[in-house]
Amino acid sequence: MNSYLEEELSRRCKLFRLWEPPTPESRRDFLRDNAGSIRALVGNTTVGADAETIDLLPGLEIVASFSVGLDKVDLAKCREKGIRVANTPDVLTEDVADLAIGLAVSTMRRICESDRYVRAGKWKSHGDYKLTTKKRDLQCRYPSVSDIGRYRIRTRQTLSGYRPILQIMFSGRAVGILGLGRIGSAIAKRAEAFGCPISYHSRSQKPDTGYKYYSNAVDLAANCQVLVVACPLTEATRRIISREVIDALGPKGVLINIGRGPHVDEPELAKALVEGRLGGAGLDVFEHEPRVPEGLCALENVVLLPHVGSGTWETEKAMADLVLGNLEAHVLNKPLLTPVV
Ligand code: DGY
Repeated sequence: MNSYLEEELSRRCKLFRLWEPPTPESRRDFLRDNAGSIRALVGNTTVGADAETIDLLPGLEIVASFSVGLDKVDLAKCREKGIRVANTPDVLTEDVADLAIGLAVSTMRRICESDRYVRAGKWKSHGDYKLTTKKRDLQCRYPSVSDIGRYRIRTRQTLSGYRPILQIMFSGRAVGILGLGRIGSAIAKRAEAFGCPISYHSRSQKPDTGYKYYSNAVDLAANCQVLVVACPLTEATRRIISREVIDALGPKGVLINIGRGPHVDEPELAKALVEGRLGGAGLDVFEHEPRVPEGLCALENVVLLPHVGSGTWETEKAMADLVLGNLEAHVLNKPLLTPVV
């Protein structure tokens, strides 16, 4: 939750309590003790309104989430109990799409790794990175994706033993998008500007996009080099990035996840990256945030971000205003600005 929203909520609401980082137990106790007076809950990407929370609050009327994703809200239960639900769509689309492209470029051009190289004082002369390649590879300044399999993906390196490897070009690579909704479409538009052919898998085929449609994630992964997860988390998309999908993407492929952690089988992903069965990964989301699977932190061929898809000041302010607007509309008995239920 951002400080602007926090300030406005404490100024405008009678009872306001922020329960992150307090433990789930203290949150439960607080909810139980104040159950009679709680009419509204403001959730985010880590804390929402699950069945247990809803059952604790007989007076709950609205859940206004500071997120577009609603996987932390039990929508069926809200419907059943007549609780209104609102989220923050549209205002974060551009931010999240920008970050997806940024992650793809950072991962393939090894920007974060190169930054660590400079900071660690390892940069001694221009083109140091060439030291890691065999002589014959030096002729290939920009290896094509088909060359990448020849370079051993370097893993488990400590910073002291580190030398960056050759980068992979993002422009022109085949981009596959999982979920062609608002955010997926905005990512596709950006990738097109990089000259990338676009394909996608979505709940349904979208007419008139000009993008190639695949009816499942495995076929999509087998036919692209950069696979971007941009779909909502539902029971149908949980673990959609399975071992089969990872292997279809292969050692020349890169996975980008700006959706949700549980979209990915994380242990399988870490294994594939360590074994060189997958080229790299750029991840903004994880299954048990803020915990990141230990295996991933030891790898250089991944870029790890702390769920900052919508993290610009402008977008966070717009999201906060939507949350406040929805709460206000509810209190005034007006239609919600961005209703979900
Ligand atoms: C959301 O709001 O659901 C996104 O995860 C923001 O990054």
